[in-house]
Amino acid sequence: MSERLLATTDLPDSGVTSVDTSQGRLAVGIADGRPFAVSPVCRHLRGDLAKGHVADDGCLECPLHAARFDVATGAMVRGPQGAFKPLAGVVKGTMGRMKLKTYPVVEREGVLFLDV
Ligand code: FES
Repeated sequence: MSERLLATTDLPDSGVTSVDTSQGRLAVGIADGRPFAVSPVCRHLRGDLAKGHVADDGCLECPLHAARFDVATGAMVRGPQGAFKPLAGVVKGTMGRMKLKTYPVVEREGVLFLDV
């Protein structure tokens, strides 16, 4: 089943936004030219990943403490920064082990669809 998410032209400059779907609210965007949809809650302290941004390395960055996630696998690839930076490795190795849930997304004629 294919479910319309949004037109790519409706994506903000951050490269990600929040979309309510049949699978619940998801963080939907485009990273390195590939569309993605992931569960929107950061594994660190529940930051809203849909309010983050797609970083230069193609990862989804949390708006609270800048942990980064690989949107293809859902894995935390960088722990939180700033005041939490000394704990980044510990957080990545504990909370970060629970990957974000990932969902198949396809783009057709400038529109992203959830392909479940
Ligand atoms: S809540 Fe996401 S990095 Fe802290």
